[in-house]
Amino acid sequence: MITTKELRNKYLDFFKSKNHTIIDGACLIPENDPSILFTTAGMHPLVPYLLGEKHPGGVRLANYQKCIRTGDIEEVGDNSHLTFFEMLGNWSLGEYFKKEAIEMSFEFLTKELGIDKSKLAVTVFAGDDDAPKDEESYEVWKSLGIPEERIAFLGKEDNWWNPAGPTGPCGPDSEMFYWTGKEDAPKVYDPKDDKWLEIWNDVFMQYNKTDKGTYEPLKQKNVDTGMGLERTVAILNGYDNVYEVDTIKPIIEEVTSLVDDKENIKAIRIITDHIRAAVMIIGDDRGASPSNVDQGYVVRRLIRSAIRRSREVGASEDCISKVAKKVIEVNKDIYPEINNNRQRVLSEIKVETEKFSQVLGKGEEMIKEYIKDGKIDANEAFQLYTTYGFPIEEIQRLGVEVDMEGFQKQIKEHQDLSRKGAEQKFKGGLADHSEETTKLHTATHLLHAALRMVLGEHVAQKGSNITADRARFDFSHPEKLTDEQKEEITNIINNIIDSKLPISHTEMSVEEAKNSGALGLFNQKYGDKVKVYTVGSGDKVFSMEICGGPHVENTGDLGTFRIKKEQASSAGIRRIKAVLE
Ligand code: ALA
Repeated sequence: MITTKELRNKYLDFFKSKNHTIIDGACLIPENDPSILFTTAGMHPLVPYLLGEKHPGGVRLANYQKCIRTGDIEEVGDNSHLTFFEMLGNWSLGEYFKKEAIEMSFEFLTKELGIDKSKLAVTVFAGDDDAPKDEESYEVWKSLGIPEERIAFLGKEDNWWNPAGPTGPCGPDSEMFYWTGKEDAPKVYDPKDDKWLEIWNDVFMQYNKTDKGTYEPLKQKNVDTGMGLERTVAILNGYDNVYEVDTIKPIIEEVTSLVDDKENIKAIRIITDHIRAAVMIIGDDRGASPSNVDQGYVVRRLIRSAIRRSREVGASEDCISKVAKKVIEVNKDIYPEINNNRQRVLSEIKVETEKFSQVLGKGEEMIKEYIKDGKIDANEAFQLYTTYGFPIEEIQRLGVEVDMEGFQKQIKEHQDLSRKGAEQKFKGGLADHSEETTKLHTATHLLHAALRMVLGEHVAQKGSNITADRARFDFSHPEKLTDEQKEEITNIINNIIDSKLPISHTEMSVEEAKNSGALGLFNQKYGDKVKVYTVGSGDKVFSMEICGGPHVENTGDLGTFRIKKEQASSAGIRRIKAVLE
């Protein structure tokens, strides 16, 4: 038996003994990266360092990272997919490469976890026009005693790690599989046999995918690895599904105790998974509330889908909030932020549950109006779905027939339109460090400082999201800004731009940064060393802020700053959208 805590500790201790610095995980909601909604892998917050920037922790790093993968929502309910999961990872930033990475993976699996190598198989990249066949990894695996028949060469769809967004570091990978069958593992590895389950992935990040879709060799050759914690614990313990794992079992037991239909395993798993993920997202230090856009939309979908399932299995009214409390209880030691943000998490979930029950009530009324001969047509179903958010399955559950084909057609047209919008929006995000996003990023530092000068020191950054066209900046402040305040803020920023102040950065400890008066989210976890960006120099320092960059070198490069919009973001939080012209 191994618990999640034991595997996490074993992993970190092992890599510490191999001279890796253990760094803090990042928030689930990425900072300054509009190209993706959530942190999907441990490598994601490390993109600037994989591209060559110096990491304060050195060139060998390891950690555990909270991740959300919404691509898997549709597969949830099976044995191994989870919307929220934890990833264990180790990195080499331009230092060790294939040989050492694979040798360490092998040592950890066989010596630390005691896995018999007869239960292991691996895959390596087969090669194509973009990158050659990975003979090197193949030879290393063979030298460690993995027989040829247990090493498969596969193409990009299996053995290539793509950037999370449209551009960024990527490369061939080598995946490790564990035989979960009761009988002895077959001599030859068969990628189609699903009793071979993936437990770890070593990515050899040596290319940068450009916005033209080409692969350029990176200055440094990196290693990025990822092991799914819950899945690996399940496999090592011989469980046939991830819901048996110590951090999930108490939650699924709670759900089961609250529903009438205890046989509907799929619904029970979905409620468990979705509320677990929703609590982690809302409770993150950069947490999102249910809404109709971006991360908030995902949270809304998770909660509403869980509620629908809970109705299906006859759950009590307070099922969702009880399950949310259980999620906090189970995870609060390792992720204290969800407990610190407990009030917010529980109240957001309560509000969303109430809103959805209104939607359902209103929808049921509308259905009564729309219904003709026990049926409603595609237009009306689509209307209910898009205008009121009324789920189509609920219409069917009420025994009303729907023109599903027509409905699906309308949904598809609607989705194609949204996708085009999203692609437009994601183009040129900070992930590609374009000139526009870099400028807007610097402008948010000026904005942060100016807001504090005009409104007061209670102003603190609560979020930021930058695309090539605009910066969005959320901050704490109890009321709407007046026109005079907006004008004053704008003037201060444009004066700083006209003064052509230099921007520089230095590395220091968090303590030093705090003492120097730098702005930062001090309740957030930082590494031992942080970078502080200073706007101005000598006795003309306008702003100092802890930040990973990148920034322009001089405020004179920014153009003219303008506030486009100021509005409420959530209770006590205002949002400014600003542009540079
Ligand atoms: N980034 C790689 C993965 O998530 C390690 O599989």
